[in-house]
Amino acid sequence: MSKTFSVVASVDEIPEDGQLRVVIDDIEILICHHAQRFYALAYYCSHENLPLEDGMLENGCIICPYHGAEFCLKDGSVQASPAYENLKTYPLKIIENTIAISISN
Ligand code: FES
Repeated sequence: MSKTFSVVASVDEIPEDGQLRVVIDDIEILICHHAQRFYALAYYCSHENLPLEDGMLENGCIICPYHGAEFCLKDGSVQASPAYENLKTYPLKIIENTIAISISN
């Protein structure tokens, strides 16, 4: 079955190392722009369910602003404690000048 993608933003809205919170069907997603790529991942940290927004983007990871857990932007895998559960990530496509995300499995 092909995935359904929803356009959520224009690429111009998120500068390099910028982030944007979007909501699709009540699911909060954080879009990150890092090293010339865009990533879509869960908005809340898997450690204590606090927002990852404004966490530093560094070496392909996002660092939670609360207790410093690190997650790989590409696949959501934990790279540093205190989190131990990976983050959900979402397929993202650039269509012309827009960012589209799929929340279907
Ligand atoms: S809430 Fe993110 S590391 Fe604790």
